[in-house]
Amino acid sequence: MPIETLRHVFLVGFMGSGKTSVGQELARRKSWEFIDLDQVIERSAGQSIPEIFHDQGEPEFRRIETAALKDLLASSSDKTRVVALGGGAFVHSGNAAAIAQAPGRVIFLDAPVAELLRRCRQQRSLERPLTQDETGFCRLYEQRRPQYLAGTLRVDTNEHTIEQVVDEIECHLAMNRREHGWNEG
Ligand code: S3P
Repeated sequence: MPIETLRHVFLVGFMGSGKTSVGQELARRKSWEFIDLDQVIERSAGQSIPEIFHDQGEPEFRRIETAALKDLLASSSDKTRVVALGGGAFVHSGNAAAIAQAPGRVIFLDAPVAELLRRCRQQRSLERPLTQDETGFCRLYEQRRPQYLAGTLRVDTNEHTIEQVVDEIECHLAMNRREHGWNEG
């Protein structure tokens, strides 16, 4: 949608695509605010994501996730916000449609599924409920990828450092800004 001022840069993509690390670096460089939706959920629930999955189940987690996203979209900020979404947030419950109405741009961080699995396994400190079963992980990736691609700017993260990925996002945003003439908040 046409925007006058960039209010949000949403980072979407599968688990292990680097949304949090890339988002933090982008926000640092631009002096924008960084928000990780999973962290918002954990803070308000007083539980980790794996605990919410375990105690309340995935459908309840999705309900909480959608509510947290809607609250975020309804709140205002003077600064542009970089928002890292959990891997499922963009593909559930009309969330993508709500995001499309927000004054922002959506960046899809992409990588081959084998690389995503490798990164998730490497980040042992980050327990992810949906990474336990390799076949299920690959199936979910295949299902979701077309949805991540729809209406987003795709950035390849494979064999790229966080700095290189952020350079490319800045480039995409600058081009998009020249094309559409919006301001940064
Ligand atoms: C999920 C991804 C996780 C987290 C939850 C569910 C998913 O976030 O929201 O475990 O459905 O892909 P990351 O993508 O940040 O790992």
